[in-house]
Amino acid sequence: MSLIVLFLTFGLFYLQINGLSVPRVSSAPCDTVNHGYQCSNAISHLWGQYSPYFSVPTNISASVPEQCNVTFVQVLSRHGARDPTSSKTTEYGALINRIHNSVPASHFKGEYEFLANYSYTLGADQLTSFGQQEMVNSGTKFFGRYHHLTANYTPFIRSSSESRVVESAQNFSQGFHAARIASNDSSDSSYPYPIVIISEDTGSNNTLDHGLCTAFETGPDSEVSDNAQATWTSVFIPPIQARLNKNLPGVNFTVQNTIDMMDLCPFNTVASPSGTLSTFCNLFTQEEWQQYDYYQSLGKYYGYGEGNPLGPTQGVGWVGELLARLTGEHQYVKDSLYTSVNHTLDDSPATFPLGGGHLLYADFSHDNDMTAAMAALGLYNISATNGPLPNSTLEAATDLGGYAASWTVPFAARIYVEKMTCHDQQEELVRTVVNDRVVPLQNCGADQFGRCRLNAFVESLSFARTGGNWDACF
Ligand SMILES: *[C@@H]1O[C@H](CO)[C@@H](O)[C@H](O)[C@H]1NC(C)=O
Ligand SMILES: *[C@@H]1O[C@H](CO)[C@@H](O)[C@H](O)[C@H]1NC(C)=O
Ligand SMILES: *[C@@H]1O[C@H](CO)[C@@H](O)[C@H](O)[C@H]1NC(C)=O
Ligand SMILES: *[C@@H]1O[C@H](CO)[C@@H](O)[C@H](O)[C@H]1NC(C)=O
Ligand SMILES: *[C@@H]1O[C@H](CO)[C@@H](O)[C@H](O)[C@H]1NC(C)=O
Ligand SMILES: *[C@@H]1O[C@H](CO)[C@@H](O)[C@H](O)[C@H]1NC(C)=O
Ligand SMILES: *[C@@H]1O[C@H](CO)[C@@H](O)[C@H](O)[C@H]1NC(C)=O
Ligand SMILES: *[C@@H]1O[C@H](CO)[C@@H](O)[C@H](O)[C@H]1NC(C)=O
Ligand SMILES: *[C@@H]1O[C@H](CO)[C@@H](O)[C@H](O)[C@H]1NC(C)=O
Ligand SMILES: *[C@@H]1O[C@H](CO)[C@@H](O)[C@H](O)[C@H]1NC(C)=O
Repeated sequence: MSLIVLFLTFGLFYLQINGLSVPRVSSAPCDTVNHGYQCSNAISHLWGQYSPYFSVPTNISASVPEQCNVTFVQVLSRHGARDPTSSKTTEYGALINRIHNSVPASHFKGEYEFLANYSYTLGADQLTSFGQQEMVNSGTKFFGRYHHLTANYTPFIRSSSESRVVESAQNFSQGFHAARIASNDSSDSSYPYPIVIISEDTGSNNTLDHGLCTAFETGPDSEVSDNAQATWTSVFIPPIQARLNKNLPGVNFTVQNTIDMMDLCPFNTVASPSGTLSTFCNLFTQEEWQQYDYYQSLGKYYGYGEGNPLGPTQGVGWVGELLARLTGEHQYVKDSLYTSVNHTLDDSPATFPLGGGHLLYADFSHDNDMTAAMAALGLYNISATNGPLPNSTLEAATDLGGYAASWTVPFAARIYVEKMTCHDQQEELVRTVVNDRVVPLQNCGADQFGRCRLNAFVESLSFARTGGNWDACF
């Protein structure tokens, strides 16, 4: 009996090695459409923005409340898992070379043994095949979650121009469309779906990619997160650094090299098509991964979130567009005239349609821009408590919403802004679902399901509607 169960659960597949087919038993997949990455959760959900998307625990059910129908969805998505950025990949490669040049082969022992034969082969900037599949899965999930809408309406898609972001939008629509075909219930079969691509060139107005606000990009505010991270680094890195230096004598790991060694765990994991946990991960303890997650959260919170004086301001252009879409009123885009909105695009129904059966919108962007958008929405606003960012994901899991980079902007992260009509309510309601966690709306009288009435929600976003602190950019 148990043998049969095992056979059904663990599929057989054939691995091609040097042209020979070697039968192997594969374990259950790490990444699934509905719950995302679910292997070695005790550490893999603590890799900050380098965690693969996973369903974040939620206190409020993310399913649509009974007696309600979702009538509109905007998804804002990060691209899928990628290789390290080009400067990082150079840095990691050089570190591996230094390790090989400083440590005699016979010295690699225990968990470090794999380093003897490890060669650095990661690319730069592009989606990995694991990352592409994450986005296909995201489109499949979106189709299924909003089936009553997706059967008949195709999302209006925009993407920031970097190739991994555009490819993510394509992979999302592939998953969406395949699910639509498989469901047999749609009349709409035209494919591929159009994508409006917004340039990331210098000087470009792009609500999906920051860069226009000079004071934010180059002024003192650009150092707020470096300082917050450096303070925390001086607390948690020294013991890890000392251990690496003891086990790999002669390399002389710096603080940055130590963080780089930790980065190599998530990057090698997502470089594996099936997301097999990298051997680098075993060099660090679970507590150290918690500290690493906090380190990455500090970078996002003080770099692009509420912790940065100009962080939320970077998100106001996108929030203006969201309000226009939610209400069907172009006014909210006009209000943010002096922000990152490109009015050539947003004044044209071809590139910024409103109403007329446009109920689904999908925007593709980056972790930093999503962090700013959430801040402009007033989510995770702990400034009322006047304290620093809580120390760990667990501590942060309070009514404030549970802020951690791994919970908000992992690879293939997705925020759903849903509008719904309900049996017992006159007015339409809005709520936000961040990686399957309902994050209650702030300052608009949210109910037990984290929802606000549309008008109250619009009212509460006066910061975004008035352009935030865009004046301070120049
Ligand atoms: C490294 O590769 C050599 C040559 O293929 C092999 O003999 C050795 O066992 C490998 N070492 C480890 C730790 O995998
Ligand atoms: C993702 O999209 C790219 C570009 O359209 C395509 O080449 C690739 O095959 C897609 N990946 C998957 C897993 O479908
Ligand atoms: C769609 O149609 C195909 C072919 O008729 C059938 O095999 C499949 O079960 C149908 N799928 C659904 C979800 O109804
Ligand atoms: C606005 O978008 C149009 C159309 O893509 C583009 O030609 C123009 O350069 C953009 N302007 C700015 C300021 O980004
Ligand atoms: C290791 O780094 C320290 C501090 O940067 C330096 O003083 C020392 O000379 C270095 N040792 C080697 C072997 O490079
Ligand atoms: C681009 O943004 C700047 C600064 O907010 C604004 O002055 C300009 O009108 C915008 N250009 C377009 C085409 O929207
Ligand atoms: C965050 O909360 C503070 C204090 O309640 C408030 O003044 C501020 O406007 C909020 N920020 C945003 C972006 O909503
Ligand atoms: C975070 O918690 C650790 C212990 O887990 C403690 O050593 C450290 O001082 C705390 N840091 C902050 C910024 O609260
Ligand atoms: C759910 O709410 C309770 C009470 O506020 C809190 O203690 C717990 O950490 C929350 N759990 C999650 C996953 O947010
Ligand atoms: C939800 O949609 C169903 C099917 O279209 C409809 O019968 C029902 O009245 C709707 N409920 C509400 C609260 O709008």
